[in-house]
Order: sequence, then structure tokens, then C-alpha cells
Amino acid sequence: MSETATRAGARHRSPFDLLAYLSDRTAAVNRALDRFLPGATTRPATIHKAMRYSLFAGGKRMRPAVCLASAEACGGSIDDALPFACAIECIHTYSLIHDDLPAMDNDDYRRGKLTNHKVFGEGIAILAGDALLTQAFEIAAQCKGWPRYSHRDALLEVARAAGSLQLIAGQVADLEGEGKRISVDQLKYIHERKTSALLRCAARLGGMSANCTAAQLKALTDFGHHVGLAFQIIDDILDITQTSEQLGKTAGKDTKAQKATYPAIVGIEKSKKIAQQLTRRAFAALKIFGGKAVALEALAVHLAVRSSRTTPRASLPKYSDSRGEQKTRSDLSGADAIALKLPCISNANLPNEGPTQSPLLTVDS
Ligand code: IPE
Ligand code: IPE
Ligand code: MG
Ligand code: MG
Ligand code: MG
Repeated sequence: MSETATRAGARHRSPFDLLAYLSDRTAAVNRALDRFLPGATTRPATIHKAMRYSLFAGGKRMRPAVCLASAEACGGSIDDALPFACAIECIHTYSLIHDDLPAMDNDDYRRGKLTNHKVFGEGIAILAGDALLTQAFEIAAQCKGWPRYSHRDALLEVARAAGSLQLIAGQVADLEGEGKRISVDQLKYIHERKTSALLRCAARLGGMSANCTAAQLKALTDFGHHVGLAFQIIDDILDITQTSEQLGKTAGKDTKAQKATYPAIVGIEKSKKIAQQLTRRAFAALKIFGGKAVALEALAVHLAVRSSRTTPRASLPKYSDSRGEQKTRSDLSGADAIALKLPCISNANLPNEGPTQSPLLTVDS
């Protein structure tokens, strides 16, 4: 990233091209996933076709991006982080296949295509999910181990994030919360587990693959935690404000299924404010990287303003890092975009609060 001195002597960074970053990292992740998975014609072909159908259906690859960007923020290499990025995406895709099943959210569309069970039948969809979860461990097991983190440490991270105390716990509570009036605390419990746990894991594994310091690991944990919470709130808002075509999945499902969501409990406007506040906290957690986490900073902002499944160039924020000048805000004020006030987000003026000191509902207005 180039830096130039201005007349006033202030140093400005070039805008970070998040679109180019995402496109490059997504291509690397897709190539690696293609290598890691058995071919579509490998016997039994049905299961490998079904696994690949959902895995390559066009997901945004946000968790792999967070994993790779976390490694880069700690001075690590993409190659070392790639097995983790792919393992996390396999777990995420498995969780979506199962989430869409009739016994769970009963969805017909995902990633702009028919859901796995609609194409392959429920039995194969369940098995495709099982196989992707197992595949994730096979891929993650190929990591090497670092001076500060063993091979075992890394695998424990994956197992814990996906297990019955985290992702599965969130999905259980999500199902059990349907049709009930639940408290914000209970909803926070759900979001921390069903969504945030995997994003936190993606960030931590990226850092571990770069042999990060304990302080960097803590910062990445805070980042993943807050970005994950914001991500699910925005997913819940978009379920109401966007069309099925924009989402690539059926809109309005949460209301229909009487899901417990932030918009249902506190309304859309307050939900947006909470998502903004969480994004600021995610951003603040990156302070210790001193400007080296520019991709993570851009991702945090992008996740907060994301307004559609496929992100048009115009809606991507071009911006300089937290200490540089705001270059362009691009089209952040699209009708459905979350109104995140980018200039307010700066490592310089944000409190650095960890997960435990960040109660969700502390929006000032
Ligand atoms: C959808 O995640 C499920 C949630 C946790 C909200 P994404 O919005 O990242 O889905 P893909 O991977 O892009 O399809
Ligand atoms: C899904 O949450 C979370 C997991 C799959 C772990 P949602 O049920 O809100 O996700 P969508 O809206 O179906 O993508
Ligand atoms: Mg669900
Ligand atoms: Mg769902
Ligand atoms: Mg949803």
C-alpha cells in the first residue's frame, strides 16, 4: 500500500480496493476447495456432487476472507491460512444445508439456487452436510503447527466453534425460540453461537496460522466476535428489507417462521444502530495492528453496509485505513444499505472494548 505525503505533511494511504481483494482471495479459496474435495465423479458420485453443488453455489466467502485477512494482518502467508479458510467454509456450508432442511428453516433457495435437499433429496442433503463437516477436519488437519500454537490447538478451535456449545447451541436455541418472546440476552446467546462463533474462529485461526502473539489473538477474537454479531443482525434486517432475488434466499422467512430476531424485538432502526455500534467495536479491536489490518477494516465496514448477495462495485466502500484520509464513500447510501457513518469509524476515536464489556444494547439514542 502506497503512502504519500501531502502539502500539510499528513500521510495518506491509497484507497483499499476491497473488491479486488475479495475477488482474488475468493478465487484462491475456490481453487483450494476444489483441490481438497473429492471430484464430482468420485464414487459415490451423488454425495460428491451434492457437496460441491452447495459449496460452489456462489457464497460470499466472508469467513475465508476474514481468516486470510487475519493471517495477513499478523504478517502471515495466505498459503498457511488457506486450509483453515477452506475448513471454515466447509463448516459454514454444511450448517447452511442443514439450516435449510424442512425440519429446520425449511428453505427452498440458497445462494440463488435451489437448496440442496430440493435438488438431491433430504437424505443426501443431510449426508452432504455431514460429509462437509467431516471434510473440514480432514482439511484443517493438514495444517502444520507453529511455535506458539500446536496442530492440536488449531483442531480444538475448529471443533469447539462447530460443536454443541457454540454453532450447534445457537441453532438449537434458534429453533427453540421460534414463536416465543425471548429477551435480548437470549437473542445475544443465539447470535454469539450460531454466527459469531465461526467468524471468531475464522479470525483466530488466521492469526494462529501466522504464529500471532497473544495480544494479536485477543484482538482478532474481539474483532470476530463483534463482526459476527453485527453480521447476524444485518442478516435479520435484510430478511425484511430485501427481495428474494437480492438475497439469493427467500425473503421474509423470519417473520413467517416467527423467528426471534433483533428487528422483531427492538425494531429495524434500533437494530441498525446496534449493528453500527458492533461494527465500530470490531474496528476498534484492530487498533493494535497499527494500520496493518486494512483488509480486516475494509471487511468490517463492507459487512456492515452489505446490501445484496452479489455486491456491485458501486456499493463497495473504497476507503483508506483508519489513520488515513477518507477517499471515497462510493455508494454507501443505497436504498437498503445500512447507514453506517464511515467517517465516525476510526481506530483513533473508538473505545477498545472486549466481548465481555460490550453489552449489546447500549445504543445511545
Ligand atoms: C448466511 O451466511 C448465514 C448466516 C450466518 C447469516 P452468509 O450470508 O455468509 O451466506 P453465504 O455464505 O454468502 O451464502
Ligand atoms: C443461519 O442463520 C446460521 C447458521 C446456519 C449456523 P439463519 O437461519 O438466519 O441464516 P439464513 O437466513 O437461513 O441464511
Ligand atoms: Mg436458521
Ligand atoms: Mg435459515
Ligand atoms: Mg437469516
